[in-house]
Amino acid sequence: MCGIAGYIGKQQAAPIILDGLAKLEYRGYDSAGVAVFDGEKIHMEKAMGRLRVLDEMTHHGASMPGFCGVGHTRWATHGCPSDTNAHPHMNEENTIAVVHNGIIENYGKLKQRLEKKGYHFASETDTEVLAHMLTEYYHGDPVDAIEKVMHRVEGSYALGIMFLDHPHHIYAARKDSPLIVGVSDDGKFIASDVPAILHYTRNVYYMENEEIACLSNEHTRFFNIDGESIEKQPVTIDWDIHAAEKGGYEHFMLKEIHEQPKAVRDTISPRISNNDIDLGELGLSEEEIRNLKHISIVACGSAYHTGVTGKYVLESLARIPTETDLASEFRYRNPIYTPDSLVIIVSQSGETADSLAALRDAKKHKSKVLAIVNVVGSSIAREADSVLYTWAGPEISVATTKAYSCQLAVFYMLAMKFARIRGTISPEQFAKLLDALKLLPDQIETLLSQKEKIQFFANHYLATEHIFFMGRGIDYAISLEGSLKLKEISYIHSEAYAAGELKHGTISLMEEGTLVVAIATQDILYPKTVSNIVEVKTRGAFVMALTTLKHKDMENCADYVLYVPETENPFMGSLAIIPLQLFSYYVSLGRGLDVDKPRNLAKSVTVE
Ligand code: G6P
Repeated sequence: MCGIAGYIGKQQAAPIILDGLAKLEYRGYDSAGVAVFDGEKIHMEKAMGRLRVLDEMTHHGASMPGFCGVGHTRWATHGCPSDTNAHPHMNEENTIAVVHNGIIENYGKLKQRLEKKGYHFASETDTEVLAHMLTEYYHGDPVDAIEKVMHRVEGSYALGIMFLDHPHHIYAARKDSPLIVGVSDDGKFIASDVPAILHYTRNVYYMENEEIACLSNEHTRFFNIDGESIEKQPVTIDWDIHAAEKGGYEHFMLKEIHEQPKAVRDTISPRISNNDIDLGELGLSEEEIRNLKHISIVACGSAYHTGVTGKYVLESLARIPTETDLASEFRYRNPIYTPDSLVIIVSQSGETADSLAALRDAKKHKSKVLAIVNVVGSSIAREADSVLYTWAGPEISVATTKAYSCQLAVFYMLAMKFARIRGTISPEQFAKLLDALKLLPDQIETLLSQKEKIQFFANHYLATEHIFFMGRGIDYAISLEGSLKLKEISYIHSEAYAAGELKHGTISLMEEGTLVVAIATQDILYPKTVSNIVEVKTRGAFVMALTTLKHKDMENCADYVLYVPETENPFMGSLAIIPLQLFSYYVSLGRGLDVDKPRNLAKSVTVE
C-alpha cells in the first residue's frame, strides 16, 4: 500500500528509484511519480496507472538527470487515482517535494487553516498539506521544519522529502508506516521495504516511530521528533536476492505456491530436536504456559484465517479457551484482558495497521503479546514481547500462499508444545503428531504435482458468477481462505459458510449449476458435511469435494472429487488449502487477470 523509494549518490537517481518502485509494485498502487533534483530545479514526473507508463514517459528515468530524488507508488485513499493526486506533491514555489505513505487524519482542519493563510491546493490528497506546512515552518533548517510538522499532524506517515535549498539531501520521517534507510558505497536509499534496495545494499537502518533521517553523500544522520541527534545501528539483511524474483515462473503467486514445501520445512525443521518442539523464542516459562487461561488471536485477511484454524487446534490439543478476532474489530471493541492471558498477533508483513494497533492496545493493558510474523525487523516483530518467525522468505504476490502455510505450521507447533507441557495429550499422541508434522512438506509437494487436474477443473469455471465454499471445524477455516483466495484474484463472487449454517439462509441461493466447493477432511464431521452436500445437490448445486482417500464413498454424492493425502486431523488444512490455491490461480489466469497484482488490493495494508 503506497511504496516509497529514494536515492542520493553517485549514480543517476531516477532509474534506481524506478527499479525500487518496481520491486514495491506488489504492495498495490494506482499511480506513480518521481521527483529529482536536476542541477537547477526539482523535476517531477507523475502518471496514473501502472509504473510502466511512468517508466516509458521517462525512458526508464534516463530523461530525468540528477543524483538525488524520491519516488512513489500511490494507493488512493484521499482523492481518486489521477495524475494530479499522484505523489510527489510540491509546494507552490516548487521548492519542496514530498512523498507519503499513510493517512494524515487531521488534514481537513490543517487544510482549512492553510487555505485561510493563502495556500492553494492543487490535489485532493491529504499529503499536500505536508508540502504547504513544510513551507510554512521552513526557515533554512529542514529537520526543524519536519519536526514542527510532525508535532502538528495526526495519523500515520512514512515520508520522503526534498528541499531545493538542500539539493544533495533526502529527508525521511516515519510514524506507524514502514520506512527503511539503506547505505552502500555508491549511495543512500530510502524505501518502504527491503526488496526495493536489495540489488544495491544489504545494510539497512529500520526507522522507528517519530524519527527523522537526513541522508547526503557525506552523512547518514538520525534525529528524534525534538530534533535531537540519535545513534542507530544498521542491520544486515540476509535475504537471498533471487527469492524476490520470479525464477522462471509466470507469476510470483505460482512460484510462491511451489515454494511451500521448502517454506514449511524451513519453518518447522529448526524447531524440532530430540523428538520435541523447541520454541525457545516464545519467551514463556513452562509454568506460565501451564497457567494460561485464555488466548486471543488477532489478525487481518488470510492471517486471520490461520488464526481461525489456530483456535481449533489450540483448543482441541492444548485445551486453552481461544478466541480469534479481526484486528479492525478487536482494536475498537474494548476487549477484556485478563491475567494469565496471551495475545497472539499474526501477520506476514508485520506492518498491517490494524494488527499493529491491536498489539499496542494489548501492550498498553499489560497483556503478554506473541507475534507470528514473516518479515524480520518489521514493526509488529519489534514491538511484540516475543516473536515466532515464519521462515517463508519474501512474499511478493498480493495473494498470500506460502506465508499462510507457514503460519499454520507455527500454530501446530505452538498447540503441540502447549499441549505437551499442560499434559493435555499423551506422549504417544505427541509423537504421532510430530511424525505427521514432519511429513507435511513432502505431502504438499505431492499435491503440487497434481496441478494439471486442478487446472482442467478450473478452466470449466472461468465464466461462473458465484461460488460457495463450505466445511465444518477446520474445514470451515480452510473454506474461508479458499473463498478469499478465489475472490481476491479472480473477482468472482465467493462466500464461505460453516456447512451447518447453510440451512439458515444461504441455501436459498442454490440453483441449477451453482458451484459449491465442499471440504470434508475432518473424520468426525465427515457424515455431517456429506448430509450438507446432499442438501445442496438436491437444489441443483454442482459439488466439487475435497476429502481424503479413505472417504472414496464421496464419489457417490459429489460431482467431482479431489483427494488430499492422510495426515492427523488438526493438520488437514495445510493440505486442503493447496488445491484451493491452485484453483484460484488457474481461474485468475484463465480469465486473463493480473494474478500477482489484483485490482484495488495491497499486499501490505499500512493504513486503517
Ligand atoms: C492484505 C493482503 C493479505 C493479508 C492481509 C494481512 O489484505 O493482501 O494477503 O492476509 O493483508 O496482512 P499481514 O501482512 O498482516 O499478514
